[in-house]
Amino acid sequence: MRIDKYLANMNIGSRKDIHQLIKEKLVIVNGKIVKTPKQQVEETDKVCVDGNEVAYQKYHYFLLNKPKGVLSATEDRSQKTVISLLDPQDRYQGIVPVGRLDKDTTGLLLLTNDGQLNHELLAPNKHVAKVYRAQIAGVADEETAKTFASGMMLGDVTKLKPAKLKILKQDRENATSEIEFEISEGKYHQIKRMFGAVGMKVTALDRLSMGNLHLPSDLKRGKYVELSLDEIKNIK
Ligand code: URA
Repeated sequence: MRIDKYLANMNIGSRKDIHQLIKEKLVIVNGKIVKTPKQQVEETDKVCVDGNEVAYQKYHYFLLNKPKGVLSATEDRSQKTVISLLDPQDRYQGIVPVGRLDKDTTGLLLLTNDGQLNHELLAPNKHVAKVYRAQIAGVADEETAKTFASGMMLGDVTKLKPAKLKILKQDRENATSEIEFEISEGKYHQIKRMFGAVGMKVTALDRLSMGNLHLPSDLKRGKYVELSLDEIKNIK
């Protein structure tokens, strides 16, 4: 690939910045000064910019604790997106959220520029388990759990896969519940619609895990950590 693309992929700067660095003879490949942005480089070449080696890492994986009020999208005209929560140097080309959490949902959201992984995690036949904690307006009980476990219909045509409901707290007097819920699909507003179908309302929703990736308890809302390939490869 061209050296300017390589450096842009590594977020060294804009194409314009990179052309300037090349002009200033600050880009060195295998010990030789790069003379043109068109020069081809391999991922195995030793590339230095202004004396610092640039290690080539094609894919990046960030685990974000999504706060409320932020869209799971890459850009939006008027609203803040999850990409804006990444430090500018981490906004690699092609970074997208893996699936979506609603604007008012919080918790674990993976962001990556690894299109293959993204595709695999979202493919309908992959069934990656996602666990949420939720506050419910309504009394979720064993009957509710049975309904969800049986693979209910959502509307007239959508048959859902079985979902696991764990009741954490039940307040019959105030008609509220706290639950943990595991689903293996990601249909639009799925959990809110499932509870809506049994006459209840989700008042707060927080994703705790996806596959074997868990939200670290010390990761504050709006903050994120970079994961290594090793940490990510067992997720499926
Ligand atoms: N189900 C929902 O209803 N909303 C989410 O954000 C995720 C799952």
